[in-house]
Amino acid sequence: MGDLHPDLARVLISKDAIEKRVKEMAKQIRGDFKDTQRLYIVGILKGAFIFLADLTRELSELSMPHVVDFMALSSYGKSTESGAVRILMDLREPIENQHVLIVEDIVDTGHTLSYLYHILEGRKPASLHTCALVRKQRERLNVPLDYIGFDIPDVWVVGYGLDFADQFRTLPYVAELKREAYTR
Ligand code: PRP
Repeated sequence: MGDLHPDLARVLISKDAIEKRVKEMAKQIRGDFKDTQRLYIVGILKGAFIFLADLTRELSELSMPHVVDFMALSSYGKSTESGAVRILMDLREPIENQHVLIVEDIVDTGHTLSYLYHILEGRKPASLHTCALVRKQRERLNVPLDYIGFDIPDVWVVGYGLDFADQFRTLPYVAELKREAYTR
């Protein structure tokens, strides 16, 4: 691993730790869906693209039949209670009678996943489950979070899909962004 970028305070979750946990999560999902013919995996752009790529390749190794689709969402007013969310890009297919697994990179306030869960629930899937790589302490989620990689403190995290102004997404680890990097 090269030197840490000067805007980063520390590596919070190493590449190895992520790799190990993603494998464990895939095994757990495989076991839980052993009787499911096909899982309809919904990745939430942009943040989930790296986690989703690794998780689904592990699921392939475990012979879990699945397809992948994407939604892009944008959230407003993260610091407010309203947390309005807008769909920028929707799924390609109807999900009625499908076994759906939502894959998120992070549950921060919980607004995005709560909103999305209710939207997709309304489309009458056969089942609906949720999965996130990291969950922040402050989340107030009112929907189930079935698979969770890591619980993290309430700091700004980047890497492994997570960004600050679209930077740092492709780092192979999750790192804490220095406070001065987003307050200057
Ligand atoms: C991030 C992340 C989640 C959401 C979580 O997306 O990917 O979708 O925020 O936050 P919440 O729990 O407070 O709702 P963001 O809106 O930053 O877009 P991006 O994935 O395109 O970076």
